[in-house]
Amino acid sequence: MEIIVVKNYKELSKLSAEVIAEVIKNKPDAVLGLATGSTPIGCYENLIEMYRNGELSFEQVRTVNLDEYVGLDKNHPQSYAYFMRDKLFNKIDIKPENTHIPNGCAEDLVDSCDRYNHVLSVLHRDVQLLGLGSNGHIGFNEPGTPFCALTHITDLAESTIKDNARLFNNVDEVPTQALTMGVKDILRADKIIILASGKNKAEAVKAMVKGPITNQCPASALQEHENCIVILDEDATSLL
Ligand code: GLP
Repeated sequence: MEIIVVKNYKELSKLSAEVIAEVIKNKPDAVLGLATGSTPIGCYENLIEMYRNGELSFEQVRTVNLDEYVGLDKNHPQSYAYFMRDKLFNKIDIKPENTHIPNGCAEDLVDSCDRYNHVLSVLHRDVQLLGLGSNGHIGFNEPGTPFCALTHITDLAESTIKDNARLFNNVDEVPTQALTMGVKDILRADKIIILASGKNKAEAVKAMVKGPITNQCPASALQEHENCIVILDEDATSLL
């Protein structure tokens, strides 16, 4: 793991966008693994800025997202499909047909996971962007998930439901399940960038970089990846 500490969220956002932009400049039809949550929003804003300045085009870029809630339609404002259109896809020149997000509203969710695994087997990721859950999750791989998991249906941890309740009217509206890429899928990307910002991530950061490699902290699996960049702001390093 290469650990880069920056001063604040603004710098973290700028640097992560620069790393992704570099990948696209070297390979205009790159496959990007993308993440949701609050943390990558600044990175996406920087990428949009580069597109608007004419520095970057997403015309040939393909994307695969990490996860989606079960039961939220793609037009639900808290669905990750909506998030990606709102925060990135609608503001750049990417072709909608080149973007992929698991379908958490399919009648047959097992089949939906199988289809997504097929997409992942065809679209080899040049880079995977990740946020970090306060309990050490990546995607929605909660503590205890075996590292050999591929895309699967998962029950969300109580702490994740509480963390994410801030985005819903109340905690009862937060879905209790999600479809997520597995840890094994995540590790298949050529390059991984994981971002963590703020004191509430400090404990998970410590377990990810200093702790044993254990599925009690899914992000600790990244210690075994050959090309993983960890970008942290100062607050997120407060327990290191
Ligand atoms: C969510 C997502 C993760 C994300 C994490 C952290 O539940 N499934 O992909 O990385 O939680 O979110 P945030 O960046 O809002 O702290």
